[in-house]
Amino acid sequence: MLKQKPSALPLRYAIILGAVGGLGALIFAVAGGLGQSAVTAQDFVDLQEGGNPHLGFRRAHAKGFCIAGEFVSNGSLQPFSTAPMFAASSTPFVGRISIAGNNPTAPDLNAPVRSLALSLGEGANRWQTAMNTPPVMAVVTPEAFYEQLQALSPDPETGERNPERIRAFFAEHPETQTFRNWQAGYTPSNSFATEIYHSINAFYLINENGERQAVRWAAMPTVNNGEPLNSDDTNALQNEFFNRVESAPVAFDLTFTFASGADDETNPTVLWPSERRNMIAGQIVVQKAVPEGEGNCNNINFDPLILPTGMAATADPILRARSAAYAESYRRRAREHLLQQAPENN
Ligand code: HEM
Repeated sequence: MLKQKPSALPLRYAIILGAVGGLGALIFAVAGGLGQSAVTAQDFVDLQEGGNPHLGFRRAHAKGFCIAGEFVSNGSLQPFSTAPMFAASSTPFVGRISIAGNNPTAPDLNAPVRSLALSLGEGANRWQTAMNTPPVMAVVTPEAFYEQLQALSPDPETGERNPERIRAFFAEHPETQTFRNWQAGYTPSNSFATEIYHSINAFYLINENGERQAVRWAAMPTVNNGEPLNSDDTNALQNEFFNRVESAPVAFDLTFTFASGADDETNPTVLWPSERRNMIAGQIVVQKAVPEGEGNCNNINFDPLILPTGMAATADPILRARSAAYAESYRRRAREHLLQQAPENN
């Protein structure tokens, strides 16, 4: 029996499960699992789901809702990338706004991280990006991220996090300092519309001459913080966003930061200096927001390695780990959706 009833999207899942399962396996094979890592995608997802999975849901960022709109490009990135969505044009997108964690009913306001994921373009020119509120990761490698997740996991005996274990992890990992500084200075805003969402990992833009430029990007809010929210409302942020979009579209400036030769594009723990070139590629305009069960974002795996022509992944090992783990999470939740339709096959 399923623990929770996910929205039923069986046929779409059946088709996509085949496609994504194949793609995930291919990416995993090409990348040699998680590179030289001893940690597998299954290990990550086992840990993230926490021993008692919310069946049918994402094993991370489980609580979220679907959005739709268009990316209105101003054409400024065209000299740097042949990706069609960077020509002066509008490209429709489907996306998802979520909070971190494996609990699909968690209170919005307790979440340490908020997220924006987008899928735009078609076929070989599809671009999927999943962005988070922190500008950097705490650690450099998948193995260290796994250790971080272990340190932050609740003790099975008490159900509580172990502060000693967390302190010990951070003490052993000085590369976490920039992330911890961000964490200490971060004040969550009163709306998903007023957060900054970062790509964190770096990617390459590739132009028609084959020249590569390492970049990170961020969706920057275009409106000021809203009124304080009702802290008793578990869905306070979702409700605020639904109301907001009903009265007017919500826009973010999609801003690209260009690495210089001095920056290591494979290390997501280091902020690039503020004097690096920034360029606004256009606006992400959210025109619609609906609960997950009513939208079409649930059947998307926002794999960060799905990139259009004119963009490529850097050698950052976290990207391969993410791709493999997202595929594993997707495989589990898609299977659970299908079994719910045919429980006698279980
Ligand atoms: C090794 C590091 C990471 C691992 C193992 C990991 C794992 C996962 C998993 C398993 C999911 C659920 C996927 C699904 O079922 O569709 C997920 C979702 C997500 N992750 Fe990560 N993640 C990692 C790093 C990151 C980073 C660096 C970012 C931000 C730049 C990020 C942003 C997101 C977002 C926004 C989602 C939700 C996407 C959606 O709405 O479907 N993750 N992650």
